[in-house]
Amino acid sequence: MNITYYGHSFLLIKIENNGYSYSVAIDPFITGNPLCPVTPDDLKCDYIILTHGHGDHFGDTQTIAKSNNATVIATAEISYKMESLGIKTHGMNIGGLFKFPFGSVKMTIAHHSSSMPDGSYAGDPAGVIIKSGDKTVYHAGDTALFMDMKLIGEMNEINHAFLPIGDNFTMGIDDAVKAAEFINAETITPIHYNTFDVIKVDAEEFKRKLESTGKQCKIMNPGDTIEI
Ligand code: NI
Ligand code: MN
Repeated sequence: MNITYYGHSFLLIKIENNGYSYSVAIDPFITGNPLCPVTPDDLKCDYIILTHGHGDHFGDTQTIAKSNNATVIATAEISYKMESLGIKTHGMNIGGLFKFPFGSVKMTIAHHSSSMPDGSYAGDPAGVIIKSGDKTVYHAGDTALFMDMKLIGEMNEINHAFLPIGDNFTMGIDDAVKAAEFINAETITPIHYNTFDVIKVDAEEFKRKLESTGKQCKIMNPGDTIEI
């Protein structure tokens, strides 16, 4: 699995599975994201996974899904809306797992809110666990710290977790350090910070605090790629 971070909560994951390669975008917030180094035209993907409907996650989904003929994987409510716009979609809900050609996606709870950019109902917010081959990645979406993260950590051997640290709308640094303990991933990358003034935090402080608990932290700058 090859993962590129494009700022905020936007990841592009390239996966080889059964001799085919797939490109999976998560929360493709490009237009209005001052940290994002790509344009909607640059983005090539086969699937788009949405954690929830907020504008800073739904982002350019409509444009990208249409130009790439990509399938949008999201909660049932968002999926119905995508379908009505003529976009290929796969609706899921919290606790459910589905095996896609690139690997499996399981939707987890996230303590947050959700609505579409126009304010219409978008169901519940989610986190996602993606498994392909022997690798497992957790993208927490927008969330507060919650005790069930311990269960997520116990039930899944997570190699890499992406956790929000920007505070105000989601967990801040100290809660995210606790979340990392619960999730028990080998490595954590902080997301959902510094995009706007209200979520400006020091990622180095998160790294310091996290590493003092014995966990690894990989801070990624927008455009950085890692192989896991
Ligand atoms: Ni949100
Ligand atoms: Mn958000």
